[in-house]
Amino acid sequence: MKTSSGKDERRLYSDLAWAWPIISPVEDYKEETELFSKLIKEHSKIEVKTSLHLGCGGGHNDYTFKKHFKVTSVDISEDMLRLAKKLNPEVNYQYGDMRIIRLEEKFDTVIALDSINYIKTEEDLQRTFITAYEHLKQGGVFLTFVEQIAGQFKQNNTTHSTHSQGDVEITFIESYYDPDPADTSYETTFIYLVRVGGKLEVHSDCHLCGIFKLETWLGFLKATGFEVKQVKFTHSTFTEGESYPMLICIKPL
Ligand SMILES: C[S@@+](CC[C@H](N)C(=O)[O-])C[C@H]1O[C@@H](n2cnc3c(N)ncnc32)[C@H](O)[C@@H]1O
Repeated sequence: MKTSSGKDERRLYSDLAWAWPIISPVEDYKEETELFSKLIKEHSKIEVKTSLHLGCGGGHNDYTFKKHFKVTSVDISEDMLRLAKKLNPEVNYQYGDMRIIRLEEKFDTVIALDSINYIKTEEDLQRTFITAYEHLKQGGVFLTFVEQIAGQFKQNNTTHSTHSQGDVEITFIESYYDPDPADTSYETTFIYLVRVGGKLEVHSDCHLCGIFKLETWLGFLKATGFEVKQVKFTHSTFTEGESYPMLICIKPL
């Protein structure tokens, strides 16, 4: 069994990057990405033609975003960028860290989805919001959502799913644990039961993620200069009552 804890962000998802298109197929992202695109267009005060996606991973959201916008995307993992480029050759992929990257261009919208949860300190959360603000045109929307909220964390919450492609079958287990609820990080552990032609290999990976109070998110966003609206992010696959705060952050005209 392979384990790694609190690993360098550049190595996130690297060990089993090849498995991600099997575990989370691109079709699974269509419904949420259509919703995100709709929210951006509805709330933007300018016409939305260009987007910057911070932490694009394997490009699964981009596969749908590119139908709506001219997409530029950034990630800190070369392995994920390689997968994303293969899936979306027409997208402008750039290597970079959302906390510090500065591109020449400003965009009509900036998006950070299931990547901003890798931001583990209040200082880095503020820096990421400044990155979004600096790259956004006036009247544009920065769209993000909050996956874990301090005080609402479910210790040992664990989910599993099984996926197959050809002679590869992967059972994927995801488990959340917060060793110290007083600090701003928690652990996400992935366990992969990989069977190739029936032969079992077990892999595991532990990622350190960030957790803050909702007021902390809202306070930093407002201090950065955004006007913030909140809506509930729900999805047809979520359990009853499951939703996440979706933050629609407008850069004033
Ligand atoms: C769950 S994946 C995103 C998957 C994506 N939603 C998709 O459509 O495929 C999270 C990504 O965030 C990236 N990430 C984590 N910290 C980052 C940072 N500081 N800057 C840029 N990307 C980061 C990771 O490398 C990883 O690829």
